[in-house]
Amino acid sequence: MKKKKILFVCLGNICRSPSAEAVFKGLLENIGEKDRFYIDSAGTDDWHKGEPADKRMQKHAVKRGYRLTSISRPFETEDFDKFDMIIAMDFENMVELKRRARNESDLDKLYMMTDFSRKFGYGEVPDPYFGGDDGFELVLDLLEDASAGLFDFVNGKKKTENNQ
Ligand code: 4NP
Repeated sequence: MKKKKILFVCLGNICRSPSAEAVFKGLLENIGEKDRFYIDSAGTDDWHKGEPADKRMQKHAVKRGYRLTSISRPFETEDFDKFDMIIAMDFENMVELKRRARNESDLDKLYMMTDFSRKFGYGEVPDPYFGGDDGFELVLDLLEDASAGLFDFVNGKKKTENNQ
């Protein structure tokens, strides 16, 4: 069976998108669906290329049982060919991804992570990099919520209020 390929994208690929990758993989593992998916993450910038996830993000993620193992890599145009869905964390990421899209088919693959929110009304996953503990916790709250909605979306279930 063909795997569903999903790429999570933020700015540096050291806070939000590696967390999205770990949270969504965790959900898939819990429900025994891991083999149906290929999940990765990338950053629109290459400043942190080759680095592990931010230590603060790792600390908060570990408290919820997620290990952030991915190494930062920049988004590449070829990712539009490799993935079925490309999911941006914030508006700035989305603008950059749209700028890099080559055609309608590329644009059709773009989503905001918060499109899949169930409980939360945020329009984006805010950048936690220059803030404190609360920002990292909020990232994880939003990602856990939206991951469940994303799984339902991929499985053809009805969207929630936020992403109708
Ligand atoms: P991320 O967070 O996009 O969630 O990985 C950031 C990481 C690094 C920077 C900004 C945001 N930075 O300015 O270096």
